[in-house]
Amino acid sequence: MHRLLLPGSLVTRLGQGLTETYYRFVSASDRELLFVHQSADRVLGACVLSLEPATLMQRFVAAHPVCLGWQTLLRLPLDGQVRDFVWKKLTAAGRDKAPVPQMPEIVQIFVNPESQGQGIGRAVVHGVETELGRRGWGEYYLKTDADTANAAHAFYLRLGFDAGHLAHLNTQDYVYYHRRLSGENATGAAL
Ligand SMILES: CC(C)(COP(=O)(O)OP(=O)(O)OC[C@H]1O[C@@H](n2cnc3c(N)ncnc32)[C@H](O)[C@@H]1OP(=O)(O)O)[C@@H](O)C(=O)NCCC(=O)NCCS
Repeated sequence: MHRLLLPGSLVTRLGQGLTETYYRFVSASDRELLFVHQSADRVLGACVLSLEPATLMQRFVAAHPVCLGWQTLLRLPLDGQVRDFVWKKLTAAGRDKAPVPQMPEIVQIFVNPESQGQGIGRAVVHGVETELGRRGWGEYYLKTDADTANAAHAFYLRLGFDAGHLAHLNTQDYVYYHRRLSGENATGAAL
């Protein structure tokens, strides 16, 4: 589902095998949380929350250097985004200038196309916020493709996120969205 719904993500670009490895990694990690919304045995939606987003990619690379190295090499000649990512990792000058906020980040969220528009995305975000509140976090953020055709903007604004700054990362422009949690989080109110 990740590969279908997030075709531009770096994980998708590195192939099916790497995507599976990534989900095994975040499931086992103590700094990432995987939220899955399912009905019977069908996954309808999911979300990855990182409590330490600044180091997520580094930790993933360190855990699977050989596998990632091979997949990256195979895709280097064909994929500009993969090439840009590698270039930025190899050169200090090319590193992204945007500082990573020191708070949790929703790094992936998606809902099965047949189940979209039924409140599942809102329920997944509510689950995230309940867990963040339980752990004592008062705010978090996410970033999404700045393209105005990206339907996720309307979703985040509807859920009460504040649109923040723009940043250019890995050949793409992103908008940052921020959410401050109050005692009773706003996404919960309509559940
Ligand atoms: C974005 C996404 C996660 C939203 O999940 P969803 O289950 O469809 O959203 P919900 O049904 O919970 O919608 C919650 C609210 O947002 C609104 N909303 C959702 N998508 C919207 C859209 N495209 N345009 C306008 N409003 C939208 C809904 O109307 C709803 O408001 P309401 O409760 O007042 O009626 C889902 O569409 C998706 O997976 N998209 C593809 C992957 C993607 O873009 N992920 C985000 C990458 S950053």
